[in-house]
Amino acid sequence: MTLNVTTAIQARDLYFGWTEDKLILDACTLDVPKGEFWMLLGTNGSGKSTLLRLLAGLLTSIAGEIEVQRPIGFVFQNPDHQLVMPTVGADIAFGLVQEALPTPIVRQRVEEALSAVNLEAFQRRPIYALSGGQKQRVAIAGAIARHCEVLLLDEPTALLDPDSQLDLVVQVRTLVKERGISALWVTHRLEELEYCDGAFLLEQGRVVDQGEPERLKQRLMQSEASTLDLS
Ligand SMILES: Nc1ncnc2c1ncn2[C@@H]1O[C@H](COP(=O)(O)OP(=O)(O)OP(=O)(O)O)[C@@H](O)[C@H]1O
Ligand SMILES: [Mg+2]
Repeated sequence: MTLNVTTAIQARDLYFGWTEDKLILDACTLDVPKGEFWMLLGTNGSGKSTLLRLLAGLLTSIAGEIEVQRPIGFVFQNPDHQLVMPTVGADIAFGLVQEALPTPIVRQRVEEALSAVNLEAFQRRPIYALSGGQKQRVAIAGAIARHCEVLLLDEPTALLDPDSQLDLVVQVRTLVKERGISALWVTHRLEELEYCDGAFLLEQGRVVDQGEPERLKQRLMQSEASTLDLS
């Protein structure tokens, strides 16, 4: 399978399980168009993180096909699992080590990436002295510095307060629209849906609905309401 020119992420009939008797992904299929910001919704345990890890190449499927534009940037729910160096600038530069770039280019990439997430003034700041939202923006800057085509974000706002949550979703939308990056963002928070171009709904490891964010939001609100009625 090869990516067509308008698709950034393509997954066809993915199957995955941790044990032989239970499938976590079951014929899971999705396409994220280039230059768009899509969200992935689903209840706890529906397979969202597993799918993101497969797309990033961190896990291997039993069957199915995956094509993702590279380089890929991955942003975890907890930035403390991702940022490894003592300062902001050093952390972003560390992500470039494999590319063996000349020092002035590394410096330029770090500065440019920090300015893309509005953290220019934070280059020398120790990581421990950042807020959760700032840490997530440093993680995203790491991906920008590597010139990532695709950003995969697994509940990046889960640990943030409501203001930082909103800042982050707006920031990613801006990056997608200004830089032509494509993003897939996992969330539980329905209020974030209004910032995306489209959304997928995952149920028991399969995409059961996709498209217009507003329609999916209504569908989820109704199903939440009916669950509450039953309890
Ligand atoms: N390392 C693992 N070993 C065994 N089972 C796992 C492992 N990681 C996840 N699972 C199981 O796989 C299923 C899907 O997990 P996954 O983390 O993909 O769900 P999710 O949709 O991201 O859920 P959440 O909304 O809670 O983050 C769950 O039943 C989970 O218990
Ligand atoms: Mg998850």
